[in-house]
Formats: sequence, structure tokens, C-alpha cells
Amino acid sequence: MLNKEVEQAFNAQINAEFWSAYLYLSMSMHFAHEGFDGIANWFAVQFKEEQDHATIMMNYVNSRGGKVVLAPIAEVETSWDTPMAAFAATLAHENKVTGLINDLYALATAKNDYATQSMLKWFIDEQVEEEETAESFINALKKIGDNGYGLYMFDKELAARTYTTPSPLAAKA
Ligand code: FEO
Repeated sequence: MLNKEVEQAFNAQINAEFWSAYLYLSMSMHFAHEGFDGIANWFAVQFKEEQDHATIMMNYVNSRGGKVVLAPIAEVETSWDTPMAAFAATLAHENKVTGLINDLYALATAKNDYATQSMLKWFIDEQVEEEETAESFINALKKIGDNGYGLYMFDKELAARTYTTPSPLAAKA
């Protein structure tokens, strides 16, 4: 049976993951409107991944006899001045999420909840990847500056991103 405090922390994290999904969907819609179809595609895949993160956590809470309680999702921003502004916001947000996952892991450790520590390892690794990706885009955009052709190629590259089911969900399918 899941410890009540751990259950509450998971419910807060599930809400944070859905908020992340909503943020990235908002970014996707913004860049689709601005004519950056590749960036819009990248954020649309990100939107799906964040829903997957919430789903993995919901499945886990259920599997441990806990109760998932879905809270309202707070408002998100709806426009960004530049792709750089959006990826800087993405990196700042992912840094925050990393902190939340670390807090959850620390709580599971304090409660001697080894199963939760084990399942959270996938998220800890995922956060390293998410931060690294956002940083690499920021670095690329710094080099591109206001070069229109560079931005055009950046957008084209992001159009190639495709969605794949994450391993904790693929294992369940
Ligand atoms: Fe679910 Fe982007 O962390």
C-alpha cells in the first residue's frame, strides 16, 4: 500500500505533468500559427510525452493501491516572442520538474519506499535527456541568431521528430 504522503506527492506530480503537457500544447499551437510547422511538431510530440509521464505515474499509483485524484490544470502562457524564448521557458520548466522529481525521490527514500525509488529512476534519467535537448536547441538558436535561413533549417530539423511510446508504457502494452 502506498504511503499517504507519497500518494499525495504523486498526485501533485501528475498535475505538474499534465500542466507540462498543456504548456507544450500551447507552444505547439503558437508556433503552428506563426508558420513554424517543425517547431509546432516538436512541441506536439512533447505534449504526448508529458501525457505519457502522467499516465505512467497514474498506473503506478493504481498498482500500489493508491488513489489518483485529478486536480484542475492551471492556466499556461499562450505566446512567445521567439523560438528562443519558448526553448528558454522549456529549459526553465524542465529544471523545475527535475527538482520536483528529486523531491519525490527524497520523500520515497525517507519513507523506505524502495518500489517508488525504483520506478522514479526512469524519470530521473528522462529529466537529464529533457534538459540536455532544451539546452542543445538553445545553443543552436544562439548560433543562428537572426539568420532567417538558419531558422528555416532549424524548423525543418524539428519537423522530423516522431513519437515513440516510452518503455514503461510499451512494457504494459
Ligand atoms: Fe514530464 Fe518534461 O517532464
